Amino acid sequence: MDNVDQYDLKLQLLLEQMWGEGYLSPGGQTATQDLLQGIDLNDKTVLDIGCGAGGITASLVQDFGATKVTGIDVEAAVCQRAQQIVEQRGLQEQISIMHVAPGPISLPDAHFDIVFSKDAILHITDKQALARDAFRLLKPGGWFVASDWLVHRNPPGPAMQAYLKLEDLDFDMATPEDYQYALEQAGFNHITMQDRNSWYTPVAKHELERLQGDEREAFLQVVSLDYLNHSIATWQAMITALEAGEHCPHHFRGQKAI
Ligand SMILES: C[S@@+](CC[C@H](N)C(=O)[O-])C[C@H]1O[C@@H](n2cnc3c(N)ncnc32)[C@H](O)[C@@H]1O
Repeated sequence: MDNVDQYDLKLQLLLEQMWGEGYLSPGGQTATQDLLQGIDLNDKTVLDIGCGAGGITASLVQDFGATKVTGIDVEAAVCQRAQQIVEQRGLQEQISIMHVAPGPISLPDAHFDIVFSKDAILHITDKQALARDAFRLLKPGGWFVASDWLVHRNPPGPAMQAYLKLEDLDFDMATPEDYQYALEQAGFNHITMQDRNSWYTPVAKHELERLQGDEREAFLQVVSLDYLNHSIATWQAMITALEAGEHCPHHFRGQKAI
């Protein structure tokens, strides 16, 4: 847990300016709604793996009716930000934020109705171990519901490699086949994988327009000009990878048998 935070204050400020208070991934509440389609969180206990700055964790309670959410993350700064949001919104009774070590999740078996994750598993190398942990943590009948950033093949194509070099985070991205296999091996039923490339490509282009256009000054209020210019170059490279079909964000889910 002594690692240097990758989602440091500068990156948090840029991403929250882009995606909203406590959001470190795209799409805001609408993306969460798409991800949770057909899953009812009312009266449910939820684990949010890689909760980041807590915007989505709070939304699971405030907008989607979850009764109790445990948000876990490996970085101290985002956990502090998530805790701040929980307290500002008076959600201490419903949400626990835990700063954890990477690796097996030390929480009890069959404890959660839903294991949720939004764009965090790309940081976790062993997808099979993660899927087994999600399965273990779920109550019978519970769902593992996640969004993540995937590659169309490994090693990634040239456009994706150029993007990853600029992004410079410890992304360890797997293919849809890797995820499908990890979910099957863990024992999940009713597995579905949904490619979100066609959703994110136009959204990412709009994000780039915001960085370069009307909102440029607002971004410069939170990060330096150098940082903004680097972010613009990163977004351009990401869009090239999206257009080449090498970057394929997915929604996926699987159910633990009753
Ligand atoms: C792109 S952010 C997404 C945060 C949040 N889910 C959201 O959508 O706003 C990815 C998060 O995953 C966290 N993370 C990285 N490795 C992790 C691990 N092994 N277990 C849990 N979280 C991890 C990072 O610290 C970061 O906060």
